[in-house]
Amino acid sequence: MTTPRKIIIDTDPGQDDAVAILLALASPELEVLGITAVAGNVPLSLTQRNARMICELAGRGDVRVFAGCDGPMVRRLITAEHVHGKSGLDGADLPEPEMPLADRHAVDFLIDTLRAETPGTVTLCVLGPLTNIATAFTRAPDIASRLEGIVLMGGAYFEVGNITPAAEFNIHVDPEAAEIVFRAGVPLVVMPLDVTHKALTDRSKVEAFRAMGTKAGAAVAGWTDFFERYDKQKYGQEGAPLHDPCVIAYLLQPGLFTGRHVNVEIETRGEYTLGMTVADWWGVSGRPANAMFMGGIDREGFFALLTDRIGRL
Ligand code: RIB
Ligand code: CA
Repeated sequence: MTTPRKIIIDTDPGQDDAVAILLALASPELEVLGITAVAGNVPLSLTQRNARMICELAGRGDVRVFAGCDGPMVRRLITAEHVHGKSGLDGADLPEPEMPLADRHAVDFLIDTLRAETPGTVTLCVLGPLTNIATAFTRAPDIASRLEGIVLMGGAYFEVGNITPAAEFNIHVDPEAAEIVFRAGVPLVVMPLDVTHKALTDRSKVEAFRAMGTKAGAAVAGWTDFFERYDKQKYGQEGAPLHDPCVIAYLLQPGLFTGRHVNVEIETRGEYTLGMTVADWWGVSGRPANAMFMGGIDREGFFALLTDRIGRL
């Protein structure tokens, strides 16, 4: 087997983050160097706790989990309990974590790790607001060029926003952080709502998780059932969009996705468009392309991968 790909997962669990983390921990192609928690779906005190609970659910109490930034760089925190529930992981009852939280700040871990690892060998998988990443880039500009790349869930263009008419949650929470990351010159693969809204569960897919008869399978089924209720009420369609697992699935099977390499800028001043990812889909701006902006997914292939891997836990 080839050498596992080194990744760091930056996350704000969130049920879909949880499924993404389980997918990563169940996949031998990936070596998770650490998990960095950020405030987003719920406050940092819960996202760092939830990240540890997810690692223990996967039997991976050895994974280092770091607490990062407890709010955006310059704005007040917006959370999403209305989507994810008060705990951020409603839908499955997991025990409180026993594994300790790592005693370093997530930003220090990001900087130290990227300076220590061979340049071009570490990929950042970003599943929440980009606050930790942008703070690390601001404090240590040298680390950006040491990254293999960043695969992130965030943004929306043809699918429009989910937290405002124009913006997707992860970008809207910290637009200044997103602007720093999108302008850092790091190779970016972006999983916007344009593609994640096609990664929809359905009854048979959720029941396949439940039929595994494992704690992980039951948790994934419970989380997706809980997560679905919000989108069903809002969009009037069956199925929960598995946003964040698209990031990990891309690393495992990039051929599941299609997109276009375009310029993407972040709106940081708009009264109605704050946090919008302005994708220059037709190349009219003359601005250089900085992101592989995904729009298509092989939904059945995605769920075949996800079911196979979750079934291994
Ligand atoms: O807009 C969807 C994104 O916001 C996902 O990452 C979800 O977990 C929330 O963080
Ligand atoms: Ca998330």
